[in-house]
Amino acid sequence: MRIRLLFLLLLTVGTSDATFLSRRSESLIRTANNAGRHVIKRSAGLAHNLRLAYNGLRIQQQPGSAKMYCVNLPSNATGLTGGGGGGAAVSSSTVSQSGGGSTVTAPAPSPSGSANVSSPWKVAQSYQGSTFFDGWDFTNAADVTTDGIAQYIDQNTAQSANIIEINSAGNAVMRVETTPQVTGNRQSIRITTQYSYTGGLIILDAVHMPTGCGTWPAFWSNGPNWPVGGEIDMVEGVNDYTNNQATLHTDVGCTMPSSDPAALNITGTLIGTTDCSAADTGNAGCGIRASQTNSFGAAFNDINGGVYATLWDNAGISVFFFPRSAIPADITADAPQPSTWGQPMANFPASTCSPFKFFYNHTAIFDTTLCGVWAGAVWSAAGVPGQDQSCAQRTGVATCEDFVRSNGTAFSEAYWEVASVKIYQMSSD
Ligand SMILES: *[C@@H]1O[C@H](CO)[C@@H](O)[C@H](O)[C@H]1NC(C)=O
Ligand SMILES: *[C@@H]1O[C@H](CO)[C@@H](O)[C@H](O)[C@H]1NC(C)=O
Ligand SMILES: *[C@@H]1O[C@H](CO)[C@@H](O)[C@H](O)[C@H]1NC(C)=O
Ligand SMILES: *[C@@H]1O[C@H](CO)[C@@H](O)[C@H](O)[C@H]1NC(C)=O
Ligand SMILES: *[C@@H]1O[C@H](CO)[C@@H](O)[C@H](O)[C@H]1NC(C)=O
Repeated sequence: MRIRLLFLLLLTVGTSDATFLSRRSESLIRTANNAGRHVIKRSAGLAHNLRLAYNGLRIQQQPGSAKMYCVNLPSNATGLTGGGGGGAAVSSSTVSQSGGGSTVTAPAPSPSGSANVSSPWKVAQSYQGSTFFDGWDFTNAADVTTDGIAQYIDQNTAQSANIIEINSAGNAVMRVETTPQVTGNRQSIRITTQYSYTGGLIILDAVHMPTGCGTWPAFWSNGPNWPVGGEIDMVEGVNDYTNNQATLHTDVGCTMPSSDPAALNITGTLIGTTDCSAADTGNAGCGIRASQTNSFGAAFNDINGGVYATLWDNAGISVFFFPRSAIPADITADAPQPSTWGQPMANFPASTCSPFKFFYNHTAIFDTTLCGVWAGAVWSAAGVPGQDQSCAQRTGVATCEDFVRSNGTAFSEAYWEVASVKIYQMSSD
C-alpha cells in the first residue's frame, strides 16, 4: 500500500511537458521526475526503486541550469537531421518513412567477404576500422539530459586528449578522462549517427564497454520530439552491473502484451511496468533485464564482449545478445538471419505497440555519462546483478560526484572498444 501511494505521488509530479518543468523550476520537482523515470525504470523491484527514487529527491541540482530531465536532447540540438551522410556509408541508401516496413530506396551493394548465407538484410551503414568515427556527430556540451557530470567533447578535442582513438586492433575506443582530480565535469563522449533510419537491424560488435562505480554507458537510439519519435535503449546499465537492460520510451499507447517471459518469448525479465509510455509512467518506460550475467560491464569485458543485435521490423522490436564465443555465423558473414537466433533477451511485440507509429527517424547514439539520475541515484544501493555491494560501500566515498571528481584512475575501465556498428536494411529486390 505504501508502495502504491509513493508510486502515485511520483506519477503526480511526473510529466513529459518540458515547459511545465521550466515554468516550475523547483529542483525538487525536476529531481522527482528524474528519479521517477530513471530509478523506477532501472532497478530491481518497485519498492526498492521507490526508496531509491526518494533518495533521488536529495540529489543536488546545479543552480540556474535549464536541464531537461529525459535522456534526449532535442533533435535540433546536436545536428541530428538527415540521413545518409557518413563517410563510412557503404551505399547511398535512404530509408523510406512510409509505414509498414523498412525499405531502402537505393539498395546497398552486397557486402564483400564470404557471405554464404542468404539474407534479406543488407548493410546500409557500416562504422568500423579507421573510418569508424566518420558519420557521427559529437555532442560538445555538458550532459544536461540526465544530470550527469560528464563533459561531452568534440571530436578534435577528444582525439587530442586521447579520449578517442582507433587502436592497433582497428577498434574504435571511446574513453572517459582519467585526470586524477577534476573540479567540475569529467570529459567523456556522446556521439550520434548522421544516418537516420526507420526500421532495420542494428548490430553492435563491442569488445569492451565502460564499467565501474560512477559510470552510466549506453548504446541507444531515439527519434524526433521525444518521446513521440520513440527511444530504444539497446545496451544500458550503471556502476558494476553485469546484466544489460533494454528499455523503450514512447508516446502514450505503446504497451507490452504481457509481463510473462514465456509469453514474450524472451530470456530476460520485465523490470517494472508493461506500459512503455513516458507520460503514463513518470518517464519510466518499459524495461527488460537480461538474464545473461556476462551481458554488461566487467563480466562482458572479461569475455571480450560480444554482439548486440536489435531487430526493428513489422513484428516489433527485439534485442539479442551473443557472447563473443557464440556469435552466429550468419552475423559474422554479414548475412544476418534473425529467425535462426532463438529467443531474444528482450522483445516488444507489434501486437500492442506499432513499431512504425511509435518509432521513426532514429539515430543511434553512444554515450558514457557519470553519476546523474541513474548511476548517482543508486550509488548507495546493492542487489542488482553485479552490484552485491553498493558503490558507496565499495569505494568508501559517500557520493558518486565526489568519487568521480576525486579518483580519475578509477575510470581506466570506463571505455567503449567497438569493433563495428552495422545498420542493415531489407533489400528492396
Ligand atoms: C530547437 O527547437 C526548439 C523547438 O522548436 C526551439 O525552441 C529551440 O530553440 C531549438 N534549438 C536550437 C539549438 O535550434
Ligand atoms: C556454403 O554453402 C555451400 C552450399 O550450401 C556449402 O557446401 C558450403 O560448405 C558453405 N560454405 C561455407 C563457408 O559455409
Ligand atoms: C519463440 O521464438 C522462437 C525462436 O524465434 C520460435 O521458434 C517460437 O515459435 C517462439 N514461440 C512463441 C510462443 O512465440
Ligand atoms: C522523418 O524523416 C523523413 C525523411 O528524412 C522526413 O521527411 C520526415 O519529415 C521526418 N519526420 C519527422 C517527424 O521528423
Ligand atoms: C580510486 O578508485 C579505485 C577503484 O575503486 C580504488 O581502488 C582506489 O583506491 C581509489 N583511489 C583513491 C585515491 O581513492
